[in-house]
This record gives sequence, C-alpha cells and structure tokens, in this order.
Amino acid sequence: DTEPPTKTPSRAGFSSRLGFVLAAAGSAVGLGNIWSYPTQVAENGGAAFVVIYFLLTILLAYPALVAELLIGRYAQSNPVSALEKLPENIVWQPVTRLTALIAVLMICLIFSFYSIVGGWIMGFTLSPLLELLSFNTAAHWLETFSPARNLLLAVLFTIATLAVVNGGVKDGIERWSSRLMPLLIVLLLALIAFVTTQPGAMEGLKHYLVPDISRIDTSLVLSALGQAFFSMSLGVGAMMVYGSYLSKTSNLPTVAFQVCMLDTAIAFLAGLLIIPALFVALNLGINIYSESGQLIHSDTLVFEVLPALFGALGSFGVPVAIAFFCLMSIAALTSSISMLEVPVSCLIERAGMNRTKASTLVCLGVLLIVALVTSSFDPLFGAIVTLTTQYAQPLNGLLFCLYAGWLMGRNRKLQEIRKGWPEVEQSLFWRIWPWYIRIVCPTLIAIIFLAEH
Ligand code: PFF
Repeated sequence: DTEPPTKTPSRAGFSSRLGFVLAAAGSAVGLGNIWSYPTQVAENGGAAFVVIYFLLTILLAYPALVAELLIGRYAQSNPVSALEKLPENIVWQPVTRLTALIAVLMICLIFSFYSIVGGWIMGFTLSPLLELLSFNTAAHWLETFSPARNLLLAVLFTIATLAVVNGGVKDGIERWSSRLMPLLIVLLLALIAFVTTQPGAMEGLKHYLVPDISRIDTSLVLSALGQAFFSMSLGVGAMMVYGSYLSKTSNLPTVAFQVCMLDTAIAFLAGLLIIPALFVALNLGINIYSESGQLIHSDTLVFEVLPALFGALGSFGVPVAIAFFCLMSIAALTSSISMLEVPVSCLIERAGMNRTKASTLVCLGVLLIVALVTSSFDPLFGAIVTLTTQYAQPLNGLLFCLYAGWLMGRNRKLQEIRKGWPEVEQSLFWRIWPWYIRIVCPTLIAIIFLAEH
C-alpha cells in the first residue's frame, strides 16, 4: 500500500530543488500577484484585505498546496492518472477521474483568458518600442481594444508559451522559469525604488498599509479566498503536475512553504508598487476614482492610469513603461507554461503523443476558445473568469484536500513525505496537517463559499 500502482522510471523531472521552487513560484507568481492582488486591495479597503488574504494563505492555501503537490509526487504522473490512481477502493475512481477531467477543462479555460490578457500586456510592451521607431499607427493599434488585436496578441502569447513547453520539463519549463523569475524580482524592486521616490507615493503607502477593519465582510473574505487559490495556482492540477516532477528526496512541506512565501512576498511587493503608483498618478492630475468615488476598476488601472502615468513622467516614462510591462509579461508567461503543461502531460502519458504534437493540439484548441471569446467578449470573458476563479478553483481545491485527506490514507501520505523528510513523524507539521486537510480545510472553504452564495 506504500507505492503507486505503476511507475515510470524514465519520467522527466526538475534537476534541482531550486529549479522546482523557481518553476512552481513562476506558476504561482503571475497576473494574479501583480495585477489582481493590488487592485483587489485597492477596491477592498486597503490593508483590511491584506490581513485577511495573508491569513487565508497560511490557513487554507498552504495546506492545500502541500496536498496537491503530494498527490502529484506520489503518483508520478499527470493529474488525470494521478487522481485516478489515488483511491484504494475503486468505487471512488469514477469520482476522482471526473474531478481531474473538470480540472483539465478548467485550466484550459484559464489558459484561454490568460492568453488574452497576456497578449494585451505583450502589446503594451511592444507599443513603446514601436513608438520609438516611429511606427505610431501600429503602436496605437496595439493599445486599442479590438477583436482583431485581441486575437492576434493572444496568438502571440500562446506561441511564446508553446515554445517554452515544447522544450520539456528541464530544458523548457525549469530553464526559463529559473532565468525569468530572478529578472522579475529585479525589475519589481527597481520599479518600487523609482515609484516610492515620486511625489504622492506616501499617500498610497498609507492606503496600502493602514487597515480599515470596518471593510471586512463575507464578500471580502470570499474574494480573498478566491485570490489566494488563484494566486497559488490551486485546484486545477498545475501544482499537481509540477509536484510529479519534484525529486523524491526533496522535503515537500518545506519547498511548498518556500513557494508559498515567495508568492505572497511578491504579491506584497507588487502592492508596494501599484498602490503608490496610483497616488503618484493622482498627484499628476490623472483621475484614479470612478464616478461612485471608488478606486478605479482594474483594467482601467493597468491599461489607462499606468500608461498615463508613464506618459507624464517625461524622459523616464518610456523605459519605466517598458520595464513595467516586461515584468507583467514575464509573470504571465511563467504562469501560462504551467497551465499548458497540465493537458500536455495528460496527452503525452495517456494518449501516447509526443510533446510537440500534444502541445500544438492543446494550443489550437485553446485558440479556438480564444477566438470565440474575442468575438463576443462582453458576456464570455467575464463568465469564464468567474466560473474558473470563483467556483472551480476553490471547489476543486476543496475536493483535492478531501481526496488527499480521506482517500490517500495516513500511511501512504507519511511514506511519501518521509522520503524527503525522514523525521517528519516527530514534527508539529505531521501532528496537524493530516486532520487539518481532512476536516478543517474543506469545512472552512465550504463555509466561506456558502456564506456568500
Ligand atoms: N497563479 C497565477 C497567477 O497568480 O497569476 C495564475 C494561475 C496559474 C492560475 C496556473 C491557475 C494555474 F493553474
């Protein structure tokens, strides 16, 4: 009962623990951290949201991350096979298989909306460069909303993702995540240093760091939960497939903690950049409030307020704009590769396809969804975002906890963690985590969810 039913000895994996941490953090750190987190903070009363978000990250997202990575590493296979193999009693197999198929479908939907937004961001990175070369019409087209632009840029973003994933686990995912993540951190720190020295920034820092407790209600808590699960890439198999590439000798709860801390730290830093940037913009006469007096909506923030701010910065504006949108493009790409890897690993291992064929096929399918969404953007885009991030990720994450908690059995969990942490049985972690993911995590997620619906 201690080994997974089938083993694939030649299966590829990450070459080092650092490589894994950077790749998993690359998946976790994305538009969720640099865009959605700061805007949710701004919309939900500043620091009040930050406090609840941090609490939920530690109390719910971290234990769920360990569960998802553990299932993947134990099974040594793609998420569909992993979940299918998990139950000892085969009565449960159709249920876990269905959950896995839903997860794969949901991650394809996430990949499709992520490609559209990632494409816009690439457009905003290219546009100042084109302007420097005096291609002003093209630069303007890239920044203006239209179905054709949305589709073209999404194709570009998907091709970039495809190119990395085609390289495989070590030479594609690990190599590119290890190069891009440090670059992302350097760019982020440089931009924070620049923005906090601008007039108005301190006002923003105050908004970000001083909590308004009266803003905490069930809808804020549910938003924070959705944000925590989205930000840690939970509930859709991305962490499960990365877990399956993690070496058996790595201490899983520790590396999961490192990934969790990196993700949270980078979200926190992104808040230190974006919220003060908003108030610097206000100082320059750019409106940051909507008619109802709320801080402006998130798309307007990234695609109107910030470009206006960069435009008002004089000669600094162009390099700062390029650095900012490069930062966003990198964050988006290291996340999208983990999305593509989920269906690709399933097709390689279950349908016997080679990597290039599998990834091309998935990308074509995703681009079909993208074409549909860009052609009737208004109802579809929002619906897909809500379905995947507000419903699928927390609910599937809840199921993964239940499966790891109830179907995997205490012994199998212990054996698997022990491989990289021989003394785990004596630890505080082991005293808490097994019953925590069986009972506490699923119950808390369900309560938060039901309170709001
Ligand atoms: N965690 C990513 C972000 O914060 O932008 C988004 C994401 C990646 C969600 C991978 C889901 C996923 F499977």
